[in-house]
Amino acid sequence: MNKKRKEEAAARATQLRREIEEHNYRYHVLDDPVISDSEFDALMRELVELERQYPELQSEDSPTRRVGGAPLPGFATLTHKLPMLGLDNAFQAEELHDFDHRVRKLTGLSAVDYFCELKVDGLAVSLQYEEGIFLRGSTRGDGFTGEDITHNLRTIKQVPLRLYEPVTLEVRGEVYMNRADFEAMNKLRRENGEALFANPRNAAAGSLRQLDPRVTASRPLRIFLYGLGEHNLPLYTHADLLDFLERLRLPVNNHRALCRSIDEAWDFCRSWQDRRGELPYEIDGIVIKVNELALQERLGNTARSPRWAIAFKYPPEEKRTRVIDIRVNVGRTGAITPVAVLEPVFLSGSTVQRASLHNEDILAEKEIMIGDTVIIRKAGEIIPEVVRVLKEKRTGDEREFQMPERCPSCGAAVHRLPGEAARRCLNPSCPAQLVERIVHFASRRAMDIEGLGPAVAELLWREGLARNLADLYYLNAAQLAPLERLAEKSASNLVAAIEKSKGNPLHRLLFGFGIRFVGEKAARLLAEHFLTLDRLRRAGLEELTAISEIGPKIAGAVYEFFQAPETAGLLERLERAGVNFSEPVVEEGAAAERTLEGKAFVFSGALERFTRDEAAALVRERGGKVASSVSRKTDYLVAGSEPGSKLTRAREMGVEVIDEESFVKLLQL
Ligand code: IVH
Repeated sequence: MNKKRKEEAAARATQLRREIEEHNYRYHVLDDPVISDSEFDALMRELVELERQYPELQSEDSPTRRVGGAPLPGFATLTHKLPMLGLDNAFQAEELHDFDHRVRKLTGLSAVDYFCELKVDGLAVSLQYEEGIFLRGSTRGDGFTGEDITHNLRTIKQVPLRLYEPVTLEVRGEVYMNRADFEAMNKLRRENGEALFANPRNAAAGSLRQLDPRVTASRPLRIFLYGLGEHNLPLYTHADLLDFLERLRLPVNNHRALCRSIDEAWDFCRSWQDRRGELPYEIDGIVIKVNELALQERLGNTARSPRWAIAFKYPPEEKRTRVIDIRVNVGRTGAITPVAVLEPVFLSGSTVQRASLHNEDILAEKEIMIGDTVIIRKAGEIIPEVVRVLKEKRTGDEREFQMPERCPSCGAAVHRLPGEAARRCLNPSCPAQLVERIVHFASRRAMDIEGLGPAVAELLWREGLARNLADLYYLNAAQLAPLERLAEKSASNLVAAIEKSKGNPLHRLLFGFGIRFVGEKAARLLAEHFLTLDRLRRAGLEELTAISEIGPKIAGAVYEFFQAPETAGLLERLERAGVNFSEPVVEEGAAAERTLEGKAFVFSGALERFTRDEAAALVRERGGKVASSVSRKTDYLVAGSEPGSKLTRAREMGVEVIDEESFVKLLQL
């Protein structure tokens, strides 16, 4: 009897999984559901209940496994059987013709078919299926090894946990986020005082590289598959390959075309250039691939990229919009910056409503008036800027903008100091400056107080709860809870985040003070030199200037900061609150744990977060060694941007290559 019940349960579970996966596919891939959400939920609940009653029925491919299990302690690495290569780029028609020329020359053919696909802007991943069951998946990493992100990929509803046919293969594709989902997610994050993602690609990457799969499960991730790893399937063309993936019910992008010549491929590129804004997701170009797989094989790869494919990259997107107003912003140093308020437009990954106009000289040079129609783009893909004014669109109703004579926040007179492009408000207790200072102090690279963004800082100031940096450390949840925007949970989260920040090393505190000219690097140098705030504050100008890489400008600003009468009070209150005033010792083997004992490192290319010397010091501090060239004794090659021949050599010798992120992780900073 019992056995029979169990068998029935097993059969029902199998059937439920099939049905759920089918509905999941219809909903998330085909966008064509045939049952209601509540009917779907009922199926899911029934399966959860069955698996609870009969735990032996739980399985890898069960849709109940999508929700996200327990967080992982760290990422394991996975080696790609076939390297995940990058693509060569082309920016002009001519470069496409060169590519076609090379392909035809190498193959000896007079005409080659090309297959064109959208280059969706996300994160490359690889998925492994065994007999149709999703086994594991990873990021691209450095192309040779990636991170095991199986737990996170499982939460993406478009990833089938079981393929339509029981095949064993490795598929590759791009995880991305739709613009609208990205915007909605960022809106929510802003409301919760969380850090915003710069664009959908960063959001997708950040969401996939989470140790806690429940976080990933809550993010609106999607995927397109476009290729295979090693396989011996009877496929002849890339077009067949994509049709095959579709048959397995893997999501494949519909906007694709077989082209009979490079000119046709060029037409495909051109046709999407102006229409790319109509897509629900961001693309940064078109990928053009030789269609015939046997030809791909014959062409082979260079060290970095296949000879049979090329990416045609679009120039940074430009959009036309209107300047509704020009306002000024008061920064933490009192600098008054003009900002254009724009009619909102979606540009390169996010809605843009403001563009910095930098300073009045640039404003004058570009001749921007209120009411002007302008062309904008993102500089370095993040910060929007006005490229030019369309003067022919002027109607005569435009108004010129005058920089204010008084600070818009506190009303003090503003001054343009000799040799400076900016006007400044010199009032040390100007509210706008104080709020900006708190925002900077709490920012990720300074004291990293989560939940303390501009809106909360402004609120705290308005309520009189934080008028200076030290006030933050005297807040309690009871004071914060009644405030609008700060529900009880986030009030206690905020207090906890502030508490946690007390233990930060000195260099973060120093950077957080926002002393003029003292960026992250100078803060680190100063902290490492003096080790305690007490010694630093007593240092004279001469002693400061004597530190290598600390010039007279930085030294002067630091000296002035510590001499200022209000600084003494600030430090005294921070110290009383228990804020750490010292830097962990970096001398040979002292404070840092010797976690890299005996490991040999070589650096190649520029790192973003450290100079070479800093990176080397961090390695040595942990017991590791740093060499200048790759040998058999090298344990890690750390590849920064534009690494050189050392990278090639490391690969040839089978030395593990890691990027800056993995390096930081090794350091356990
Ligand atoms: S093919 C060996 N096809 O672009 C060929 N890549 O720089 C490898 N990408 O890392 C890639 N859409 O993440 C290919 N339809 C597409 C793509 C695509 C986006 C990304 C991919 C890769 C990068 C290449």
